[in-house]
Amino acid sequence: MERYGIVFAFNGREPRFSIPDFDHPEASLMLRSGTFPDRFLVDPWVICANTPDLLHITELHRFDMHNDPYEDATWQDYSATFPIHATTPAGPVLDIRPEIHGTNLFHQNGTVDGRWFGWSTWMGIPTPGESAVFYTICAQPEPGETPEQTAEFLDYVLKLEMSIASEDVPIFASMRYTPGNLTRGDRVLARFFEYLRTFPRSHPSADFLK
Ligand SMILES: [Fe+2]
Repeated sequence: MERYGIVFAFNGREPRFSIPDFDHPEASLMLRSGTFPDRFLVDPWVICANTPDLLHITELHRFDMHNDPYEDATWQDYSATFPIHATTPAGPVLDIRPEIHGTNLFHQNGTVDGRWFGWSTWMGIPTPGESAVFYTICAQPEPGETPEQTAEFLDYVLKLEMSIASEDVPIFASMRYTPGNLTRGDRVLARFFEYLRTFPRSHPSADFLK
């Protein structure tokens, strides 16, 4: 199916879940989709594991947390939610609800300094060990705002999110998760690995490989 200007395909006979919605109707949003210029040299699940890796939010991104993300994480059959309310080192306050859907979709609704925006990254796997990463960023025009002003806000949140991602990207390539090396601070990440291990798999070409 096509959503947000991106074409999605489900690996199986029937999709088990839908492409996630933003908090506001798509028709009311100014929305922009694009592609990260370089492939990431890891599988999509490694990129998704960045979100439940709660230790890195304070240790790498240096967020000053206002909530307890360990307490606030919730799990659904085909998604998980990791709310974050924090002041970023540059000053803006994020109150966001990042989610992982399936094993390759990152989807986030929330506010920066009180203004709503949406930000998602969608991972394709063109070949094992590589991810092609697409994104969608969106905002709601405020009353009395010109399209140029809304676009300026989109530029601002895209830059903010890209600067956070730029801290993660160099680390992805060297990320090697090893059983037995997790700590208490990784307990939400450990739960995410369990989610991944038990996630339904589909192998449409299995019959041809016997
Ligand atoms: Fe990160």
